[in-house]
Amino acid sequence: MKQFLSVVLFGAAAVALVSAAGTDGEISFEYHRYEEMRKALVSVWLQCPTITRIYTIGESFEGRELLVLEMSDNPGTHEPGEPEFKYIANMHGNEAVGRELLIYLAQYLCNQYQQGNETIIDLIHNTRIHLMPSMNPDGFEKAASQPGEIKDWFVGRSNAQGVDLNRNFPDLDRIIYINEREGGANNHLLQNMKKAVDENTKLAPETKAVIHWIMDIPFVLSANLHGGDVVANYPYDETRTDDVMFKSLARAYSMYNPVMSDPHRPPCRKNDDDSSFKDGITNGGAWYSVPGGMQDFNYLSSNCFEITLELSCDKFPNEDTLKTYWEQNRNSLVSYIEQVHRGVKGFVRDLQGNAISNATISVEGIDHDITTAKDGDYWRLLAPGNYKVAASAPGYLTVIKKVAVPYSPATRVDFELESLMERKEEEREELMDWWKMMSETLNF
Ligand SMILES: *[C@@H]1O[C@H](CO)[C@@H](O)[C@H](O)[C@H]1NC(C)=O
Ligand SMILES: *[C@@H]1O[C@H](CO)[C@@H](O)[C@H](O)[C@H]1NC(C)=O
Ligand SMILES: [Zn+2]
Repeated sequence: MKQFLSVVLFGAAAVALVSAAGTDGEISFEYHRYEEMRKALVSVWLQCPTITRIYTIGESFEGRELLVLEMSDNPGTHEPGEPEFKYIANMHGNEAVGRELLIYLAQYLCNQYQQGNETIIDLIHNTRIHLMPSMNPDGFEKAASQPGEIKDWFVGRSNAQGVDLNRNFPDLDRIIYINEREGGANNHLLQNMKKAVDENTKLAPETKAVIHWIMDIPFVLSANLHGGDVVANYPYDETRTDDVMFKSLARAYSMYNPVMSDPHRPPCRKNDDDSSFKDGITNGGAWYSVPGGMQDFNYLSSNCFEITLELSCDKFPNEDTLKTYWEQNRNSLVSYIEQVHRGVKGFVRDLQGNAISNATISVEGIDHDITTAKDGDYWRLLAPGNYKVAASAPGYLTVIKKVAVPYSPATRVDFELESLMERKEEEREELMDWWKMMSETLNF
């Protein structure tokens, strides 16, 4: 609950900034240091107050806020049935393009919404979008304060403790390998382990904050924005289960980025091995393995599908290239958010219409289940095809439905589960009726 207190406090701080922040809705293509980023987000909030909210999920090691701008028609609340989406950038503090793109994206969405762009209005009305421009604000300040335009390749990558945040997440892949052999769970591996997370001294404060965030909000889809190469990277270290969908998600990004999808793009550096890149996408395992990465953590600890986007050969390019990066990525950034509306979605309820939370949604042939959120709502991303989808919960009879899934939008499938107790009651009543009938017939 700490985070909600911070929201209030930050809200109060933001009001004081009203006069300082411009509200003209122009995107200015420049780097934003910490204070400037804060002001830029506040100015979006001031310009579009009915569809935005600023909150913080915690603090960096040096005490900077991990700020999030939320965009939704009901900021601050999860609407039953509405999917949640997140972008996280600048986890490596010296990879600066994604950080700026998320600030520009916030400004763009707000502008387009106000100008009546129907695509954007639909998106914001039907999705809860969370944008975190910097997961490593300390690292960014360190990278940005180097003099001159050419920045060192490594300075500012880690957090202020020297921790590489994309190697710092609990390594759930290992647990999955063991479970696959021994028949354990294939998802939600950290359930009920928040306390263990808090007490784990190996986890950086930024990592802990993001773990809590991932476990508190029923995110469906996400991307983690990096730099140093140009490719959309999907999980995970071995091919299995949701591979087809992940490929499709990665393509939905790369396809709209003319540089990323260009088959003749020369490698970023002469000796780079891009042989696993195809159509601007690559499988994480095939490219290079990242133990403790955030991408696999999302998939294995929550319902969220995450890909990693490498957006620029230079990690901290000259400021005058930022506009070009925005133009290359704008349609991709919007297209990728739209992917959250694919597959199967709906509600799981009991026969009285009460929500069943934490029910399991499983798809025949895919070894990865997802679960329902608090209101019994669920979103199961799936590539086009015919599926058998099952909803189950302890104490209820499982229901299986056949579903045809187009590319988009998501097919709505609701489930009504009969509780075993009700079933027993029914069976007892049926038996009683039968006895009654028999006894009448036989004239006992
Ligand atoms: C509306 O937004 C979409 C998505 O970003 C964009 O492709 C389209 O050009 C915009 N329409 C107008 C009229 O600007
Ligand atoms: C959710 O359901 C699973 C399996 O039915 C169970 O192991 C887990 O403890 C449940 N979690 C919560 C938070 O109720
Ligand atoms: Zn990176």
